[in-house]
Amino acid sequence: MGTIDKIYFYPVWLRIWHGFNALGILILIITGISMQSSIDSPVIGFNLVVNLHNIAGIIVLISYFIFFTGNLVTENGKFYLIKRKDFFKNLIKQGKYYAWGMFHGEKTPFPVTEKRKFNPLQKYSYVIVMYLAVPVVIITGIALLFPEIIIDQTWGISGVFLTAILHSVMGFLISIFLFIHVYIASVGKSPKDNYKAILNGWHHL
Ligand code: HEM
Repeated sequence: MGTIDKIYFYPVWLRIWHGFNALGILILIITGISMQSSIDSPVIGFNLVVNLHNIAGIIVLISYFIFFTGNLVTENGKFYLIKRKDFFKNLIKQGKYYAWGMFHGEKTPFPVTEKRKFNPLQKYSYVIVMYLAVPVVIITGIALLFPEIIIDQTWGISGVFLTAILHSVMGFLISIFLFIHVYIASVGKSPKDNYKAILNGWHHL
């Protein structure tokens, strides 16, 4: 038995989810920012931007089902399980590596193995984004599509207003995540490795 040099980490369903999700979220961020600045140019009118935002939202909603169900019924879900033991210690270790170690020739503290696909920072941020931020953005987004289902007022503040705030705050969080995610994905043996892996499924060790 020789040592393995590659792992099939990204099955087809995961790549399909990731592709539609990335495209959908990029459109949501661009149209979302555009809506906040209320630009109504003759070329790309406000209504078109709103329609695009709604369509991209539905794409993200449908692909979220693929992600959620896939992680429920396949082995991939176990990579998202967080253990309480050494939570902060591991977080700091990985943080130090990204901030200092990797620029000084240190070895990564949590190398990829068949059992460990994500390092702790990756894992925690994926869990926050995929099991908190994206679901909240989806639920508040659906609510804003059908504002009649939102309660009129709480503490004298309009329910629609509060829902919109929550929706934008979570959207903003996802935008920040995306920047960091795309940068961190370039950290590996060679910068292109991880991008290739999310396209062809194979992670090279
Ligand atoms: C242009 C946009 C994007 C690029 C280039 C990109 C790139 C990548 C790459 C290279 C990987 C595999 C390596 C790794 O796990 O770090 C990956 C995995 C992942 N990405 Fe992205 N990504 C993008 C958008 C997004 C968005 C918008 C989200 C969520 C809101 C997201 C969530 C994830 C998650 C959760 C994984 C791990 C999937 C798994 O293995 O179970 N990505 N991405």
